[in-house]
Amino acid sequence: MAKVSIADLDLTGKRVLIRVDFNVPLDAKQEVTDDTRIRAALPTIRHALGQGAKVLLISHLGRPKGKVVPSLSLAPAAARLSQLLGTPVAMAPDCMGDAVKAAVARLGPGQALMLENCRFHAGDEKNDEAMGRALAELCDVFVNDAFGAAHRAHASTVGVTKFVPTSACGFLMARELTYLGRAVTNPARPFVAVLGGAKVSDKIGVLRTLLRRVDVLLVGGGMAYTFLKAQGMEVGASLLETDKLDVARAILDEARAKGITFLLPMDHVVAERAEATAATRLADSTAIPPGWMGLDIGPKAREAFTKLIRGARTVVWNGPMGVFELAPFREGTFAVARAIAASGATSIVGGGDSVAAVAQAGVADKISHISTGGGASLEFLEGIELPGVAALTEKK
Ligand code: 3PG
Repeated sequence: MAKVSIADLDLTGKRVLIRVDFNVPLDAKQEVTDDTRIRAALPTIRHALGQGAKVLLISHLGRPKGKVVPSLSLAPAAARLSQLLGTPVAMAPDCMGDAVKAAVARLGPGQALMLENCRFHAGDEKNDEAMGRALAELCDVFVNDAFGAAHRAHASTVGVTKFVPTSACGFLMARELTYLGRAVTNPARPFVAVLGGAKVSDKIGVLRTLLRRVDVLLVGGGMAYTFLKAQGMEVGASLLETDKLDVARAILDEARAKGITFLLPMDHVVAERAEATAATRLADSTAIPPGWMGLDIGPKAREAFTKLIRGARTVVWNGPMGVFELAPFREGTFAVARAIAASGATSIVGGGDSVAAVAQAGVADKISHISTGGGASLEFLEGIELPGVAALTEKK
């Protein structure tokens, strides 16, 4: 069933509480170093302001675990948002309570107020009913545009919806669900998934689901070594999850039984230490020297992965191919980013590292959809219903 969208509502003069995901990186000077998530929420915020709504924005930042942590204040995000909108965005002292109610009462139509970090209250992550009710008291309409937090059943994503008459989907949320939804239900084929990152354990669920949907699965990054070991290869000092070898074997068997192309890197950039100054060598998967670790996919793997990506009509990518933060080990990740950009396929990139990699490789504008959700996009692709979406009002 379709959910009510912010576009369906008349917001004139209404108090509109928008859950955004402004969980953005800050530097030592408390400045936002990547404002992608703030920019991504602009269409929803601008729409509500343009309709003459009194806009209240609520978000988490980091994991303060129910305590007030001044370095995790949302004030820097409010300042950045204000620059992007070209209009002041006031900062509330909290996200609920009398002082916030008073600040909301002072707000005029077309004005925005940023509420303080909702995770300063333990009730948020506990999906505490009283907190949901207190948030609902602030507004007439609730809008969820925080796709990145939609896999969390918290008071600010789910609890609040029980106490407001209408909970609508924002434009960013809708866009994320459309792109990811199409990949899950009706992908143009061949459908190629590229998975990387450190751990198999983080990706077991999504691997299992993707096996039922994709034509080609390319696996790189630290997680590849558990699969290589499961095939009987020696992986030297590479990252290895010995307790996941059985799962890796089962996944490889399933891929074989289904006739899916499941490709692991056949060669690697190896070093004795994961450091930018470490001496590096190239090694085939059958010949990783003892004491050396694979830190990037090698040139043969880059070529093989690129070829398969080039033939795709849908590509989903989550997780880097190596330790791409260090210059000697970034080529594999950049090669994948470039191949996806050049493929002409509908491409979806999720997860902080892959998103950073497409930006660093200078190809972000050639990706069909860059997801603002890491964990949320993986859970969606896994086929799990996101609680933050499930809680929104159904369209009649
Ligand atoms: C994210 O950065 O993935 C989201 O903001 C969710 O953050 P969380 O994992 O702390 O809930």
